Amino acid sequence: MRTSTLASIALSAATASASLTSITVKGNAFFAGSDRFYIRGVDYQPGGSSDVADPIADESGCTRDIVEFKKLGINTVRVYTVDNTANHDACMNALADAGIYLVLDVNTPKYSLNRADPNPSYNAVYLQSLFATVDSFANYTNTLAFFSGNEVINDPASSAAAPYVKAVTRDLRQYIREQGFRSIPVGYSAADVSENRLEMAEYMNCGTDDERSDFFAFNDYSWCDPSSFTTSGWDQKVKNFTGYGIPLFLSEYGCNTNTRTFEEVQALYNTEMTSVYSGGLVYEYSQEASDYGLVEINGDSVTELADFTALESQFSNTSNPTGDGGYNSTGGASGCPAYSSPNWLVANDSLPAIPDGAVKYMTEGAGTGPGLTGDGSQNAGGASTGTATAGSGSATATASGSSSTSTSKSGATAMNAPEWSLAPMICGAVVVMSTFFGATLL
Ligand SMILES: *[C@@H]1O[C@H](CO)[C@@H](O)[C@H](O)[C@H]1NC(C)=O
Ligand SMILES: *[C@@H]1O[C@H](CO)[C@@H](O)[C@H](O)[C@H]1NC(C)=O
Ligand SMILES: *[C@@H]1O[C@H](CO)[C@@H](O)[C@H](O)[C@H]1NC(C)=O
Ligand SMILES: *[C@@H]1O[C@H](CO)[C@@H](O)[C@H](O)[C@H]1NC(C)=O
Ligand SMILES: *[C@@H]1O[C@H](CO)[C@@H](O)[C@H](O)[C@H]1NC(C)=O
Repeated sequence: MRTSTLASIALSAATASASLTSITVKGNAFFAGSDRFYIRGVDYQPGGSSDVADPIADESGCTRDIVEFKKLGINTVRVYTVDNTANHDACMNALADAGIYLVLDVNTPKYSLNRADPNPSYNAVYLQSLFATVDSFANYTNTLAFFSGNEVINDPASSAAAPYVKAVTRDLRQYIREQGFRSIPVGYSAADVSENRLEMAEYMNCGTDDERSDFFAFNDYSWCDPSSFTTSGWDQKVKNFTGYGIPLFLSEYGCNTNTRTFEEVQALYNTEMTSVYSGGLVYEYSQEASDYGLVEINGDSVTELADFTALESQFSNTSNPTGDGGYNSTGGASGCPAYSSPNWLVANDSLPAIPDGAVKYMTEGAGTGPGLTGDGSQNAGGASTGTATAGSGSATATASGSSSTSTSKSGATAMNAPEWSLAPMICGAVVVMSTFFGATLL
Protein backbone atom coordinates (compact mmCIF):
# COMPACT_ATOMS: atom_id res chain seq x y z
CA MET A 1 0.00 0.00 0.00
CA ARG A 2 1.20 3.41 -0.88
CA THR A 3 -0.14 6.76 0.06
CA SER A 4 -0.01 9.83 -2.03
CA THR A 5 -1.13 13.24 -1.02
CA LEU A 6 -1.94 15.78 -3.62
CA ALA A 7 -2.46 19.43 -3.54
CA SER A 8 -5.38 20.36 -5.69
CA ILE A 9 -4.38 21.99 -8.89
CA ALA A 10 -6.36 24.56 -10.78
CA LEU A 11 -7.24 22.59 -13.87
CA SER A 12 -9.70 24.95 -15.42
CA ALA A 13 -7.04 27.51 -16.05
CA ALA A 14 -4.78 24.90 -17.59
CA THR A 15 -6.96 23.88 -20.47
CA ALA A 16 -10.16 24.94 -22.12
CA SER A 17 -10.67 22.34 -24.77
CA ALA A 18 -8.77 19.11 -24.39
CA SER A 19 -9.95 16.63 -26.97
CA LEU A 20 -9.83 12.91 -27.59
CA THR A 21 -10.90 11.05 -30.69
CA SER A 22 -14.59 10.38 -30.16
CA ILE A 23 -15.69 6.76 -29.98
CA THR A 24 -17.93 5.34 -32.68
CA VAL A 25 -19.75 2.06 -33.15
CA LYS A 26 -19.18 -0.30 -36.03
CA GLY A 27 -20.74 -3.76 -36.09
CA ASN A 28 -20.42 -5.19 -32.58
CA ALA A 29 -17.42 -3.07 -31.57
CA PHE A 30 -16.28 0.39 -30.55
CA PHE A 31 -13.71 2.30 -32.56
CA ALA A 32 -11.43 5.27 -32.01
CA GLY A 33 -10.88 6.27 -35.61
CA SER A 34 -9.90 3.08 -37.38
CA ASP A 35 -8.61 1.36 -34.24
CA ARG A 36 -10.72 -1.06 -32.22
CA PHE A 37 -11.46 0.46 -28.80
CA TYR A 38 -11.75 -1.68 -25.65
CA ILE A 39 -13.13 -0.23 -22.45
CA ARG A 40 -10.51 -0.58 -19.71
CA GLY A 41 -12.11 1.17 -16.86
CA VAL A 42 -13.38 1.55 -13.34
CA ASP A 43 -16.67 2.63 -11.84
CA TYR A 44 -16.20 5.97 -10.14
CA GLN A 45 -18.58 7.34 -7.52
CA PRO A 46 -16.69 8.35 -4.36
CA GLY A 47 -19.03 8.57 -1.41
CA GLY A 48 -21.40 5.98 -2.77
CA SER A 49 -25.08 6.57 -3.15
CA SER A 50 -25.99 7.83 0.29
CA ASP A 51 -23.91 10.89 -0.43
CA VAL A 52 -25.48 11.86 -3.75
CA ALA A 53 -22.79 13.95 -5.32
CA ASP A 54 -21.22 14.69 -8.67
CA PRO A 55 -17.58 13.50 -8.79
CA ILE A 56 -16.81 15.24 -12.06
CA ALA A 57 -17.97 18.59 -10.81
CA ASP A 58 -15.44 18.23 -7.97
CA GLU A 59 -12.22 19.60 -9.38
CA SER A 60 -9.94 18.82 -6.46
CA GLY A 61 -11.42 15.31 -6.17
CA CYS A 62 -11.00 14.43 -9.82
CA THR A 63 -7.51 15.94 -9.87
CA ARG A 64 -6.56 13.70 -6.95
CA ASP A 65 -8.07 10.62 -8.61
CA ILE A 66 -6.86 11.09 -12.18
CA VAL A 67 -3.33 10.54 -10.89
CA GLU A 68 -4.45 7.09 -9.75
CA PHE A 69 -6.36 6.43 -12.98
CA LYS A 70 -3.20 7.05 -14.97
CA LYS A 71 -1.25 4.74 -12.73
CA LEU A 72 -3.85 2.01 -13.24
CA GLY A 73 -3.61 2.53 -16.98
CA ILE A 74 -7.34 2.88 -17.59
CA ASN A 75 -9.05 4.65 -20.48
CA THR A 76 -12.62 4.96 -19.14
CA VAL A 77 -14.54 5.80 -15.99
CA ARG A 78 -18.22 5.25 -15.36
CA VAL A 79 -20.04 7.81 -13.22
CA TYR A 80 -23.49 7.00 -11.80
CA THR A 81 -24.78 10.41 -10.77
CA VAL A 82 -24.08 13.93 -12.02
CA ASP A 83 -25.54 17.33 -11.35
CA ASN A 84 -26.86 18.63 -14.66
CA THR A 85 -26.61 22.23 -13.46
CA ALA A 86 -22.90 22.00 -12.61
CA ASN A 87 -19.95 22.92 -14.80
CA HIS A 88 -17.85 19.90 -15.78
CA ASP A 89 -15.21 21.55 -17.94
CA ALA A 90 -12.33 21.18 -15.51
CA CYS A 91 -12.70 17.46 -14.82
CA MET A 92 -13.76 16.51 -18.34
CA ASN A 93 -10.78 18.30 -19.82
CA ALA A 94 -8.43 16.82 -17.25
CA LEU A 95 -9.78 13.36 -18.04
CA ALA A 96 -9.29 14.00 -21.75
CA ASP A 97 -5.72 15.12 -21.10
CA ALA A 98 -5.19 11.78 -19.36
CA GLY A 99 -6.69 9.86 -22.29
CA ILE A 100 -9.79 8.93 -20.31
CA TYR A 101 -13.37 8.71 -21.56
CA LEU A 102 -16.61 8.93 -19.58
CA VAL A 103 -19.55 6.50 -19.62
CA LEU A 104 -22.37 8.33 -17.87
CA ASP A 105 -25.59 7.24 -16.21
CA VAL A 106 -28.14 9.93 -17.04
CA ASN A 107 -30.53 8.92 -14.26
CA THR A 108 -30.16 10.12 -10.68
CA PRO A 109 -31.83 8.64 -7.60
CA LYS A 110 -34.62 11.24 -7.76
CA TYR A 111 -34.96 11.27 -11.54
CA SER A 112 -35.37 7.64 -12.51
CA LEU A 113 -37.94 5.03 -13.47
CA ASN A 114 -39.88 3.17 -10.81
CA ARG A 115 -39.56 -0.49 -11.72
CA ALA A 116 -42.58 -1.45 -9.60
CA ASP A 117 -44.88 1.02 -11.38
CA PRO A 118 -43.07 2.36 -14.42
CA ASN A 119 -45.85 4.16 -16.29
CA PRO A 120 -46.30 7.18 -13.98
CA SER A 121 -42.54 7.59 -13.60
CA TYR A 122 -42.01 7.79 -17.37
CA ASN A 123 -43.06 11.44 -17.63
CA ALA A 124 -41.96 14.79 -19.06
CA VAL A 125 -40.29 16.02 -15.86
CA TYR A 126 -38.15 12.90 -15.84
CA LEU A 127 -37.16 13.17 -19.49
CA GLN A 128 -36.33 16.87 -19.13
CA SER A 129 -33.73 15.99 -16.51
CA LEU A 130 -32.22 13.29 -18.71
CA PHE A 131 -32.10 15.53 -21.76
CA ALA A 132 -30.52 18.35 -19.73
CA THR A 133 -27.80 15.90 -18.70
CA VAL A 134 -27.20 15.02 -22.33
CA ASP A 135 -26.89 18.75 -23.11
CA SER A 136 -24.25 19.10 -20.39
CA PHE A 137 -22.02 16.35 -21.77
CA ALA A 138 -22.64 16.20 -25.50
CA ASN A 139 -19.91 18.68 -26.39
CA TYR A 140 -17.07 16.80 -24.73
CA THR A 141 -15.24 14.60 -27.19
CA ASN A 142 -14.45 12.15 -24.39
CA THR A 143 -18.08 11.44 -23.54
CA LEU A 144 -18.00 7.82 -24.68
CA ALA A 145 -21.58 6.76 -24.01
CA PHE A 146 -24.74 7.30 -21.99
CA PHE A 147 -26.47 4.66 -19.89
CA SER A 148 -30.23 5.09 -20.25
CA GLY A 149 -30.81 3.01 -17.12
CA ASN A 150 -29.06 0.88 -14.55
CA GLU A 151 -30.41 -2.43 -13.25
CA VAL A 152 -34.04 -1.41 -13.63
CA ILE A 153 -34.86 -5.06 -14.33
CA ASN A 154 -33.36 -7.04 -11.45
CA ASP A 155 -35.43 -10.22 -11.36
CA PRO A 156 -37.95 -12.09 -13.54
CA ALA A 157 -40.98 -10.05 -12.42
CA SER A 158 -39.47 -6.64 -13.11
CA SER A 159 -38.98 -7.60 -16.79
CA ALA A 160 -42.46 -6.09 -17.19
CA ALA A 161 -40.76 -2.67 -16.98
CA ALA A 162 -38.51 -3.38 -19.99
CA PRO A 163 -40.65 -1.43 -22.52
CA TYR A 164 -40.07 1.73 -20.45
CA VAL A 165 -36.32 1.21 -20.36
CA LYS A 166 -36.39 0.76 -24.10
CA ALA A 167 -38.60 3.83 -24.60
CA VAL A 168 -36.17 5.97 -22.57
CA THR A 169 -33.28 4.66 -24.67
CA ARG A 170 -35.21 5.52 -27.85
CA ASP A 171 -36.00 9.03 -26.58
CA LEU A 172 -32.39 9.76 -25.63
CA ARG A 173 -31.17 8.64 -29.04
CA GLN A 174 -33.80 10.71 -30.78
CA TYR A 175 -32.94 13.75 -28.65
CA ILE A 176 -29.27 13.44 -29.59
CA ARG A 177 -30.18 13.29 -33.27
CA GLU A 178 -32.69 16.11 -33.19
CA GLN A 179 -30.33 18.42 -31.31
CA GLY A 180 -27.67 17.73 -33.91
CA PHE A 181 -25.19 16.37 -31.40
CA ARG A 182 -22.49 13.87 -32.30
CA SER A 183 -23.82 10.28 -32.38
CA ILE A 184 -22.99 9.49 -28.76
CA PRO A 185 -23.85 5.81 -28.16
CA VAL A 186 -26.79 5.12 -25.82
CA GLY A 187 -27.45 1.77 -24.14
CA TYR A 188 -28.59 0.08 -20.97
CA SER A 189 -26.61 -1.36 -18.05
CA ALA A 190 -28.29 -4.58 -16.96
CA ALA A 191 -28.16 -6.52 -13.74
CA ASP A 192 -26.85 -10.02 -14.35
CA VAL A 193 -30.20 -11.78 -13.98
CA SER A 194 -29.64 -15.27 -15.31
CA GLU A 195 -33.36 -15.88 -15.96
CA ASN A 196 -33.66 -13.10 -18.53
CA ARG A 197 -30.16 -11.76 -19.28
CA LEU A 198 -30.25 -12.85 -22.90
CA GLU A 199 -33.87 -11.80 -23.43
CA MET A 200 -33.09 -8.30 -22.16
CA ALA A 201 -30.07 -8.04 -24.47
CA GLU A 202 -32.07 -9.16 -27.47
CA TYR A 203 -35.05 -6.99 -26.59
CA MET A 204 -32.90 -3.86 -26.38
CA ASN A 205 -31.54 -4.62 -29.85
CA CYS A 206 -34.72 -5.73 -31.64
CA GLY A 207 -37.23 -3.92 -33.79
CA THR A 208 -36.85 -0.81 -35.90
CA ASP A 209 -33.58 1.11 -35.88
CA ASP A 210 -35.07 4.04 -33.95
CA GLU A 211 -36.03 1.71 -31.11
CA ARG A 212 -32.78 -0.25 -30.83
CA SER A 213 -29.80 0.52 -28.61
CA ASP A 214 -26.31 1.41 -29.72
CA PHE A 215 -24.73 -1.11 -27.30
CA PHE A 216 -25.60 -3.34 -24.35
CA ALA A 217 -23.80 -3.79 -21.03
CA PHE A 218 -24.33 -5.95 -17.99
CA ASN A 219 -22.91 -6.32 -14.52
CA ASP A 220 -21.15 -9.61 -13.86
CA TYR A 221 -19.77 -10.89 -10.57
CA SER A 222 -19.46 -14.54 -11.58
CA TRP A 223 -15.65 -14.65 -11.81
CA CYS A 224 -14.61 -15.07 -8.17
CA ASP A 225 -10.93 -15.88 -7.71
CA PRO A 226 -9.64 -18.50 -7.98
CA SER A 227 -11.49 -19.07 -11.22
CA SER A 228 -11.03 -19.42 -14.95
CA PHE A 229 -12.71 -18.70 -18.25
CA THR A 230 -14.62 -21.97 -18.00
CA THR A 231 -15.15 -22.17 -14.22
CA SER A 232 -16.68 -18.69 -14.18
CA GLY A 233 -19.05 -19.58 -17.01
CA TRP A 234 -17.72 -16.71 -19.09
CA ASP A 235 -17.08 -19.18 -21.90
CA GLN A 236 -20.81 -19.96 -22.00
CA LYS A 237 -21.71 -16.29 -22.06
CA VAL A 238 -19.38 -15.75 -25.00
CA LYS A 239 -21.07 -18.64 -26.75
CA ASN A 240 -24.56 -17.37 -25.98
CA PHE A 241 -23.78 -13.82 -27.10
CA THR A 242 -21.98 -14.83 -30.29
CA GLY A 243 -23.79 -13.18 -33.18
CA TYR A 244 -25.15 -10.34 -31.01
CA GLY A 245 -25.02 -7.38 -33.37
CA ILE A 246 -24.05 -4.41 -31.16
CA PRO A 247 -21.12 -3.82 -28.79
CA LEU A 248 -21.31 -5.66 -25.47
CA PHE A 249 -19.29 -4.91 -22.35
CA LEU A 250 -19.27 -5.44 -18.60
CA SER A 251 -20.56 -2.33 -16.83
CA GLU A 252 -19.39 -3.76 -13.48
CA TYR A 253 -17.14 -6.70 -12.69
CA GLY A 254 -14.79 -7.78 -9.92
CA CYS A 255 -16.25 -10.32 -7.49
CA ASN A 256 -14.81 -9.71 -4.02
CA THR A 257 -15.73 -12.99 -2.34
CA ASN A 258 -12.10 -14.07 -2.06
CA THR A 259 -8.79 -12.28 -2.48
CA ARG A 260 -9.01 -10.44 -5.74
CA THR A 261 -6.23 -11.18 -8.22
CA PHE A 262 -8.20 -9.85 -11.20
CA GLU A 263 -7.10 -12.67 -13.48
CA GLU A 264 -10.33 -12.13 -15.40
CA VAL A 265 -8.56 -9.17 -17.01
CA GLN A 266 -6.45 -11.63 -18.98
CA ALA A 267 -9.60 -13.32 -20.31
CA LEU A 268 -11.53 -10.14 -21.04
CA TYR A 269 -8.86 -8.70 -23.35
CA ASN A 270 -8.03 -12.01 -24.98
CA THR A 271 -9.37 -13.13 -28.35
CA GLU A 272 -11.38 -15.82 -26.55
CA MET A 273 -13.68 -12.92 -25.59
CA THR A 274 -12.93 -9.94 -27.82
CA SER A 275 -14.96 -11.18 -30.77
CA VAL A 276 -18.04 -10.62 -28.60
CA TYR A 277 -17.00 -8.29 -25.74
CA SER A 278 -15.45 -4.84 -25.77
CA GLY A 279 -13.92 -4.82 -22.29
CA GLY A 280 -15.43 -3.64 -19.05
CA LEU A 281 -15.42 -1.56 -15.89
CA VAL A 282 -14.15 -2.74 -12.52
CA TYR A 283 -16.44 -2.07 -9.57
CA GLU A 284 -15.25 0.23 -8.03
CA TYR A 285 -12.64 2.93 -7.53
CA SER A 286 -13.28 4.04 -3.96
CA GLN A 287 -13.71 1.95 -0.84
CA GLU A 288 -17.31 2.14 0.36
CA ALA A 289 -19.41 0.09 2.76
CA SER A 290 -19.77 -2.71 0.20
CA ASP A 291 -16.00 -3.33 0.26
CA TYR A 292 -15.25 -3.24 -3.48
CA GLY A 293 -12.80 -0.34 -3.39
CA LEU A 294 -9.40 -0.10 -5.02
CA VAL A 295 -8.42 2.93 -2.95
CA GLU A 296 -9.33 4.54 0.32
CA ILE A 297 -9.99 8.26 0.05
CA ASN A 298 -9.27 10.61 2.92
CA GLY A 299 -9.71 14.23 2.00
CA ASP A 300 -6.97 15.10 -0.49
CA SER A 301 -5.17 11.88 0.14
CA VAL A 302 -5.61 8.48 -1.48
CA THR A 303 -4.36 5.18 -0.12
CA GLU A 304 -3.97 2.40 -2.64
CA LEU A 305 -5.36 -0.88 -1.33
CA ALA A 306 -4.10 -4.35 -2.24
CA ASP A 307 -6.81 -4.63 -4.91
CA PHE A 308 -5.39 -1.57 -6.63
CA THR A 309 -1.97 -3.13 -6.92
CA ALA A 310 -3.42 -6.42 -8.18
CA LEU A 311 -5.50 -4.69 -10.85
CA GLU A 312 -2.66 -2.38 -11.86
CA SER A 313 -0.39 -5.34 -12.49
CA GLN A 314 -3.04 -7.24 -14.46
CA PHE A 315 -3.71 -4.24 -16.68
CA SER A 316 -0.04 -3.67 -17.31
CA ASN A 317 0.49 -7.34 -18.08
CA THR A 318 -2.47 -7.60 -20.43
CA SER A 319 -2.37 -5.89 -23.79
CA ASN A 320 -5.22 -5.75 -26.25
CA PRO A 321 -5.26 -8.25 -29.10
CA THR A 322 -3.51 -7.08 -32.21
CA GLY A 323 -5.67 -6.20 -35.18
CA ASP A 324 -9.43 -5.96 -34.72
CA GLY A 325 -9.84 -8.65 -32.06
CA GLY A 326 -12.11 -10.68 -34.32
CA TYR A 327 -15.11 -8.33 -34.09
CA ASN A 328 -18.21 -8.82 -36.22
CA SER A 329 -18.30 -5.98 -38.72
CA THR A 330 -21.81 -6.83 -39.93
CA GLY A 331 -23.77 -6.27 -36.77
CA GLY A 332 -27.50 -5.77 -36.85
CA ALA A 333 -30.75 -6.34 -35.02
CA SER A 334 -31.75 -9.29 -32.87
CA GLY A 335 -35.09 -11.01 -32.99
CA CYS A 336 -37.51 -9.89 -30.25
CA PRO A 337 -37.90 -12.48 -27.48
CA ALA A 338 -41.34 -14.02 -27.07
CA TYR A 339 -43.43 -13.55 -23.93
CA SER A 340 -42.54 -16.34 -21.52
CA SER A 341 -43.92 -16.35 -18.00
CA PRO A 342 -42.50 -16.05 -15.39
CA ASN A 343 -39.11 -14.87 -16.69
CA TRP A 344 -39.94 -12.55 -19.55
CA LEU A 345 -43.14 -10.57 -19.05
CA VAL A 346 -43.18 -8.35 -22.12
CA ALA A 347 -46.45 -8.97 -23.94
CA ASN A 348 -45.61 -7.49 -27.34
CA ASP A 349 -43.02 -5.41 -29.15
CA SER A 350 -44.73 -2.04 -28.99
CA LEU A 351 -43.36 0.74 -26.80
CA PRO A 352 -45.05 3.52 -24.86
CA ALA A 353 -45.13 6.79 -26.79
CA ILE A 354 -43.08 9.67 -25.47
CA PRO A 355 -45.17 11.64 -22.92
CA ASP A 356 -46.90 14.57 -24.68
CA GLY A 357 -45.22 17.15 -22.47
CA ALA A 358 -41.75 15.99 -23.49
CA VAL A 359 -42.20 16.23 -27.26
CA LYS A 360 -41.24 19.90 -27.33
CA TYR A 361 -37.79 19.20 -25.91
CA MET A 362 -36.87 17.43 -29.13
CA THR A 363 -36.99 20.68 -31.06
CA GLU A 364 -36.57 23.33 -28.37
CA GLY A 365 -33.95 21.61 -26.26
CA ALA A 366 -34.33 20.70 -22.61
CA GLY A 367 -33.32 23.98 -21.00
CA THR A 368 -31.95 24.08 -17.47
CA GLY A 369 -31.98 20.78 -15.60
CA PRO A 370 -33.15 20.26 -12.00
CA GLY A 371 -29.73 19.28 -10.66
CA LEU A 372 -29.46 17.08 -7.60
CA THR A 373 -31.70 19.20 -5.41
CA GLY A 374 -34.85 19.18 -7.57
CA ASP A 375 -38.16 17.82 -6.31
CA GLY A 376 -37.80 14.49 -8.11
CA SER A 377 -39.86 13.17 -11.01
CA GLN A 378 -41.52 9.93 -10.08
CA ASN A 379 -44.89 11.37 -9.14
CA ALA A 380 -44.69 14.48 -11.27
CA GLY A 381 -47.62 13.55 -13.51
CA GLY A 382 -47.88 13.81 -17.29
CA ALA A 383 -47.22 10.16 -18.04
CA SER A 384 -47.28 8.50 -21.44
CA THR A 385 -50.80 7.89 -22.69
CA GLY A 386 -50.28 6.09 -25.98
CA THR A 387 -48.36 3.47 -27.88
CA ALA A 388 -45.60 4.52 -30.24
CA THR A 389 -45.57 3.66 -33.90
CA ALA A 390 -42.40 1.67 -34.47
CA GLY A 391 -40.12 3.51 -36.84
CA SER A 392 -41.77 6.88 -36.22
CA GLY A 393 -38.52 8.23 -34.82
CA SER A 394 -37.10 7.30 -38.23
CA ALA A 395 -33.65 6.77 -36.88
CA THR A 396 -30.59 5.63 -38.65
CA ALA A 397 -29.08 3.48 -35.99
CA THR A 398 -25.62 4.61 -35.12
CA ALA A 399 -25.14 1.01 -34.11
CA SER A 400 -24.62 -0.16 -37.64
CA GLY A 401 -25.50 0.61 -41.16
CA SER A 402 -27.60 -2.48 -41.48
CA SER A 403 -31.35 -2.50 -41.51
CA SER A 404 -33.66 -3.81 -38.84
CA THR A 405 -34.62 -6.80 -40.91
CA SER A 406 -31.61 -8.89 -40.06
CA THR A 407 -31.97 -11.17 -37.09
CA SER A 408 -29.33 -12.62 -34.87
CA LYS A 409 -28.56 -16.27 -34.60
CA SER A 410 -28.71 -16.20 -30.85
CA GLY A 411 -32.28 -17.20 -30.29
CA ALA A 412 -34.20 -15.94 -27.31
CA THR A 413 -33.69 -18.97 -25.18
CA ALA A 414 -35.24 -18.98 -21.79
CA MET A 415 -32.72 -19.09 -19.01
CA ASN A 416 -33.19 -21.47 -16.17
CA ALA A 417 -31.51 -22.31 -12.89
CA PRO A 418 -31.24 -18.96 -11.12
CA GLU A 419 -27.73 -18.50 -9.81
CA TRP A 420 -28.86 -16.22 -7.06
CA SER A 421 -31.89 -14.26 -6.08
CA LEU A 422 -32.24 -10.53 -5.89
CA ALA A 423 -35.54 -10.77 -4.07
CA PRO A 424 -34.60 -8.25 -1.35
CA MET A 425 -34.43 -5.53 -3.95
CA ILE A 426 -38.08 -5.85 -4.93
CA CYS A 427 -39.40 -4.89 -1.54
CA GLY A 428 -40.51 -1.30 -1.57
CA ALA A 429 -38.40 -0.41 -4.55
CA VAL A 430 -39.63 3.14 -4.85
CA VAL A 431 -36.62 4.49 -6.58
CA VAL A 432 -34.52 2.63 -9.05
CA MET A 433 -31.31 2.57 -7.13
CA SER A 434 -27.89 2.85 -8.61
CA THR A 435 -25.74 -0.15 -8.22
CA PHE A 436 -23.79 0.85 -5.20
CA PHE A 437 -26.85 -0.35 -3.31
CA GLY A 438 -27.31 -3.40 -5.46
CA ALA A 439 -23.75 -4.62 -5.48
CA THR A 440 -23.81 -5.35 -1.79
CA LEU A 441 -26.40 -7.98 -2.51
CA LEU A 442 -24.41 -9.79 -5.14
C1 LIG B 1 -22.21 23.01 -26.92
O1 LIG B 1 -21.81 23.58 -28.14
C2 LIG B 1 -22.83 24.34 -28.76
C3 LIG B 1 -22.34 24.77 -30.13
O2 LIG B 1 -21.07 25.32 -30.03
C4 LIG B 1 -23.19 25.52 -27.88
O3 LIG B 1 -24.23 26.27 -28.45
C5 LIG B 1 -23.66 24.98 -26.52
O4 LIG B 1 -23.91 26.05 -25.64
C6 LIG B 1 -22.61 24.07 -25.92
N1 LIG B 1 -23.15 23.47 -24.71
C7 LIG B 1 -22.53 23.49 -23.54
C8 LIG B 1 -23.24 22.84 -22.41
O5 LIG B 1 -21.44 23.98 -23.40
C1 LIG C 1 -26.55 -20.16 -22.40
O1 LIG C 1 -27.70 -20.57 -23.09
C2 LIG C 1 -28.20 -21.84 -22.69
C3 LIG C 1 -29.38 -22.18 -23.56
O2 LIG C 1 -29.08 -22.02 -24.89
C4 LIG C 1 -28.63 -21.77 -21.24
O3 LIG C 1 -29.08 -23.05 -20.82
C5 LIG C 1 -27.45 -21.36 -20.39
O4 LIG C 1 -27.88 -21.15 -19.06
C6 LIG C 1 -26.84 -20.06 -20.90
N1 LIG C 1 -25.64 -19.81 -20.14
C7 LIG C 1 -25.29 -18.60 -19.72
C8 LIG C 1 -24.08 -18.52 -18.87
O5 LIG C 1 -25.91 -17.59 -20.02
C1 LIG D 1 -22.29 -11.27 -37.20
O1 LIG D 1 -23.47 -10.57 -36.87
C2 LIG D 1 -24.59 -10.89 -37.66
C3 LIG D 1 -25.72 -9.98 -37.24
O2 LIG D 1 -25.96 -10.02 -35.86
C4 LIG D 1 -24.91 -12.37 -37.47
O3 LIG D 1 -25.99 -12.72 -38.30
C5 LIG D 1 -23.70 -13.21 -37.81
O4 LIG D 1 -23.97 -14.56 -37.51
C6 LIG D 1 -22.51 -12.75 -36.99
N1 LIG D 1 -21.33 -13.50 -37.40
C7 LIG D 1 -20.57 -14.14 -36.50
C8 LIG D 1 -19.38 -14.84 -37.04
O5 LIG D 1 -20.82 -14.16 -35.31
C1 LIG E 1 0.64 -12.16 -17.61
O1 LIG E 1 -0.23 -12.55 -18.67
C2 LIG E 1 0.03 -13.82 -19.22
C3 LIG E 1 -0.95 -14.08 -20.34
O2 LIG E 1 -1.31 -12.91 -20.98
C4 LIG E 1 -0.07 -14.90 -18.17
O3 LIG E 1 0.26 -16.14 -18.70
C5 LIG E 1 0.81 -14.56 -16.99
O4 LIG E 1 0.57 -15.49 -15.95
C6 LIG E 1 0.52 -13.16 -16.48
N1 LIG E 1 1.42 -12.80 -15.41
C7 LIG E 1 0.96 -12.40 -14.22
C8 LIG E 1 2.00 -12.00 -13.22
O5 LIG E 1 -0.21 -12.39 -13.92
C1 LIG F 1 -48.85 -4.35 -25.92
O1 LIG F 1 -48.83 -4.61 -24.52
C2 LIG F 1 -49.18 -3.48 -23.74
C3 LIG F 1 -48.93 -3.85 -22.28
O2 LIG F 1 -49.47 -5.07 -21.98
C4 LIG F 1 -50.60 -3.06 -24.03
O3 LIG F 1 -50.96 -1.94 -23.27
C5 LIG F 1 -50.71 -2.74 -25.51
O4 LIG F 1 -52.06 -2.46 -25.84
C6 LIG F 1 -50.23 -3.89 -26.36
N1 LIG F 1 -50.17 -3.46 -27.77
C7 LIG F 1 -50.57 -4.20 -28.75
C8 LIG F 1 -50.44 -3.59 -30.12
O5 LIG F 1 -51.04 -5.32 -28.60
